[in-house]
Amino acid sequence: MRHTLAHFAKLYRSGERLVMLTCYDASFARLCDQAGVEILLVGDSLGMVVQGHDSTLPVSLEQMEYHVAMVARGAERPLIVADLPFASYQASVEQAFTSAARLMVAGAQAVKLEGGRAMADTVRFLVERGIPVCGHVGLVPQSVHQLGGYRVQGRTEDSARELLEDARAIQQAGAAMLVLEAIPAALAKQVTESLAIPTIGIGAGGNCSGQVLVLYDMLDIYPDRKARFALLIMGALNVAFFFLVTRTDFIDVLPPSLRPFLGFYLLVYAGVALVFFLPIYLQLGHRVSAQLSGLLLLPITVGQVTASLTVTRVVRRMRDPQRIPAIGMSLSSAALLLLGLLPPHMGLVIGLGFVTGLGFGTVMAINQVVVQTAAGRARLGAVTALNSLARSTGGAVGAALFGALVFAIIPDADRQSLLQRASEYDVELVVRAFHHGFLFIAALAALAALTASRIPRVTLWKQQVENDERRVMNDE
Ligand code: KIV
Repeated sequence: MRHTLAHFAKLYRSGERLVMLTCYDASFARLCDQAGVEILLVGDSLGMVVQGHDSTLPVSLEQMEYHVAMVARGAERPLIVADLPFASYQASVEQAFTSAARLMVAGAQAVKLEGGRAMADTVRFLVERGIPVCGHVGLVPQSVHQLGGYRVQGRTEDSARELLEDARAIQQAGAAMLVLEAIPAALAKQVTESLAIPTIGIGAGGNCSGQVLVLYDMLDIYPDRKARFALLIMGALNVAFFFLVTRTDFIDVLPPSLRPFLGFYLLVYAGVALVFFLPIYLQLGHRVSAQLSGLLLLPITVGQVTASLTVTRVVRRMRDPQRIPAIGMSLSSAALLLLGLLPPHMGLVIGLGFVTGLGFGTVMAINQVVVQTAAGRARLGAVTALNSLARSTGGAVGAALFGALVFAIIPDADRQSLLQRASEYDVELVVRAFHHGFLFIAALAALAALTASRIPRVTLWKQQVENDERRVMNDE
């Protein structure tokens, strides 16, 4: 037995959420029916997800009839709502009736049309002639060119008020339900509370009477190409830019003895880039909340600040201060090695995060000071800029490599929806992927330690210490 609108009115009154999915063919219709989906929308979104167009505008009424008939053959129980496609209902109420009637004959039990007050008479005309209507306000894709793109609607006070009036007009005209697409959650809540018919949200927050999803979005089937190598390409572009700059005369501002510092710094910051991904690791691998994942980055930062402060204080008293960066990076490398090898544990993330931060902190402050001191005043600006370039390049390359490695292990994770679909990810897989990432960064840090230990910097340190001492004596 097919579900009726009366059934959904009852569910709505009892406070139960309505579930709507788009569907375009008989096989999926059968699967959706078996899965318990109660409303199937034969959406004109098929123009994009099935036909490959970049909007819904080219979809014809004949094509909609064809898809509605398939869905009706495949699904026994769901209520079938069919989209009136672009240019099949806007010209007149008579045109709307003729088009809607064809979709009903093809197998739909209701039609959906886009628009607010301007469409109220059309909705009334159809309803009075026995055709149930679902309204659609907010982002109305058939008006994409008038809206200037697929943008969230109702953001300003005026447009929110207009949208509310549109929704009321459609309800008053007799619509059975109303789709709210891409509007702020607070506005969707306000509309839902002020109507006596169910609202079905898509990109409108969680406070609507029901939700609709485009089936192909839900199943992650996209006609667009995946940017699988985007991270690596961005990393490579950064490296190319770095070499381009450092091959110009610009590099001459840096004394030859300081040039290895750039490579060292690049490696250090490639390691630091791991911090960008830690919140994802904590949220997906340890199932902590978004807020807590941010808070748990604190030990790393505290480690960095502690090390920077301590090192800058003790450096003048040390005999072999040039060892500091090598020791620091060895410390970070060891902590990351343990993070990658030991079983996942929140205490370890906090403790070893602190140690990793300590290691990085020894280097960050010192490197800048050493390079600037050794370069001298005249070249101060240029060497600082070069140092920053090495730092940003390192960060970009580290993020690219770490991201590419980790996301190559988690299938289909090169998508922005990774966190949105957090519940679908296998915790063990995520942990394994990130642990590989930690080991990779541990290797980078070890390489940085090795590079640091080979940089002949003793004169530089002496020079810096002497400068400092001279300044202190002058002050005294
Ligand atoms: O055509 C469609 O799929 C739709 C949904 C986005 C509501 O109208």
